[in-house]
Amino acid sequence: MSDDLFPVPADWAASARIDKAARAADYQRSLEDADAYWLEQARRLDWNTPPTRASESSFDEADFTIRWFADGTLNASVNCLDRHLAERGDAVAILWEPDDPDETPRQLTYRQLHAEVCRFANVLKGAGARRGDRITIYLPMIPEAAVALLACARIGAIHSVVFGGFSPEALAGRIIDCDSTIVVTADEGRRGGRRVPLKANVDTALALDHCSSVHHVLVVRATGGTVPMQNGRDIWYDEAMAQASADCPAEIMNAEDPLFLLYTSGSTGKPKGVVHSTGGYLLWASLTHQLCFDYRPGDVWWCAADVGWVTGHSYIVYGPLANGATTLMYEGLPNWPTHSRIWEIVDRHQVHTLFTAPTVLRALMKEGDAFVHVTSRASLRLLGSVGEPINPEAWRWYHHVVGEDRCPIIDTWWQTETGGAMIAPMPGATDLKPGSATFPMPGVEAMIVDGEGRPIEGEGEGNLVIARSWPGQMRTVWNDHDRFFQTYFTTFPGKYTTGDGARRDADGYYWITGRVDDVINVSGHRMGTAEVESALVLHSAVAEAAVVGMPHEIKGQGIYAYVTLNAGEVPGEELRRALIQWVRAEIGPIATPDVIQFAPGLPKTRSGKIMRRILRKIAEGEVSPQALGDTSTLADPSVVDDLVRSRLAFA
Ligand code: WT7
Repeated sequence: MSDDLFPVPADWAASARIDKAARAADYQRSLEDADAYWLEQARRLDWNTPPTRASESSFDEADFTIRWFADGTLNASVNCLDRHLAERGDAVAILWEPDDPDETPRQLTYRQLHAEVCRFANVLKGAGARRGDRITIYLPMIPEAAVALLACARIGAIHSVVFGGFSPEALAGRIIDCDSTIVVTADEGRRGGRRVPLKANVDTALALDHCSSVHHVLVVRATGGTVPMQNGRDIWYDEAMAQASADCPAEIMNAEDPLFLLYTSGSTGKPKGVVHSTGGYLLWASLTHQLCFDYRPGDVWWCAADVGWVTGHSYIVYGPLANGATTLMYEGLPNWPTHSRIWEIVDRHQVHTLFTAPTVLRALMKEGDAFVHVTSRASLRLLGSVGEPINPEAWRWYHHVVGEDRCPIIDTWWQTETGGAMIAPMPGATDLKPGSATFPMPGVEAMIVDGEGRPIEGEGEGNLVIARSWPGQMRTVWNDHDRFFQTYFTTFPGKYTTGDGARRDADGYYWITGRVDDVINVSGHRMGTAEVESALVLHSAVAEAAVVGMPHEIKGQGIYAYVTLNAGEVPGEELRRALIQWVRAEIGPIATPDVIQFAPGLPKTRSGKIMRRILRKIAEGEVSPQALGDTSTLADPSVVDDLVRSRLAFA
């Protein structure tokens, strides 16, 4: 870690809306005079009924409640569309860059996007969708994805986006959990010149046991590939749109009504449906987009995430559109057809701010600077990072090679659960340190506590917790409020547990050290080790599996699986490959194990608990007895010797 300081550049200091003093004052006020502060911030949204109350929240078990702006009513699509029409109806809302660079980009103005959203909202209603229904969206990165989200919001239906890289099994699990009645998909997706069989995956998912809630599938013609359509169930998007009216009054929602749910992995069990609210979430997405990136009308904003993740929800769709921004949406991969593609897109669309992930930077950095140098990047003013800790080396490369020392790096720490950025710099207000997400955003009462929950003041390292509610906080786990409370509010009673470790340095900067639980971060995507284990043990050859993270140069963390086979099964290359394929089919390519180590036994305590600490060390290649520490509490300490021996055999 580096403690070098990169001061606010002079041009940003001169032009930014928020300077150091303003940031500090704002933060203090947000905590000390919270009600007034938040009711004032709430005015950045258009309300049908403006709220008169801000937070009514408590993290204590006795009166556990999270509620913001509860007497306010509004509609999210109106805030993202209708209210911009008078002033910037003809400004570009969505700028779409296709997978294939030889194809023509598409543009949708606010007026056009508004009309599309209203039409599709009517299509959804025609297909039986009602306020409060859950609608699953399984789409590629095409403008129709934004249309689908906003159309759900318009009629008060709750969208659940499932990333297009998830398998039919994973898709079905997410449909079943929330009882979705409609799926919106496309014939196929395209990424890096390859086709992704989305409609075929939906067909497979809906044919699985217990996946019976869906009565309609709306299919966007994205590639024109031939797909079977099931009579009475499947509807072509374009045909339905041609019949639909562009007039659709927005449903008036309560601030606390769910806007969407989004599945994410935890340390245990199945992925959980994170529920976000209409008012608080939208305010948080819009406010943080403004504060962290100082958006100005006319700037071209590019968040290079997928709409299947929370980053895409908050910073491709809701935040930027609520702020009347021009948001670029890219269909393809960062390194196709060449390693210059990202920078070519920056030049082609004169991108002002680029927001991407460290894993992408590390992958491109490895290919050499020439791929960057062949492009201009003169339009860039600001660079963002999200998804995992950014290593100082990648930070410096981003700053120096990509941004030519001109663009502040906005490293935003947050989570699916937090709705938007929680700890992050502001370009005109924050001196940067490579690898530090810097300081908490307004209203974010970040704390570092030790294992017993005792606060660590000043310099120190421990568990990162948040001591009070903020507007963008998730409200519950879909259908499992108890799991919500148990997961986030019992480890350190009275506080929200992030699952991350953090260090605070002498200047008060926060440095996120990574997850402290059984969640791993693969290329900025969250994976529960328990999920991969469950997938592995479904295979007939597998008796038991234990999965841990391992350091990975590009992905940040890789997936390391220890597998114990059933009697009579033969470990070997063939089975190893079969198991890797198996996990990909069960969950999706993002869960592909990097290493499978066959293990005759796993290190367990006498009570049967697997000691992951030891497995993590062995995966890291740390096999000396000192590194492995005390193994005397194991039921059978000799399994460790076996693990070390077979680890060394393929190291
Ligand atoms: C986990 C949340 C944030 C939206 C995308 C991922 C890690 C995320 C950073 C960062 C260090 C980061 C944390 C967090 N993380 N951003 N800037 N610095 N760590 O959302 O899938 O819910 O993952 O990603 O470990 O807990 P997610």
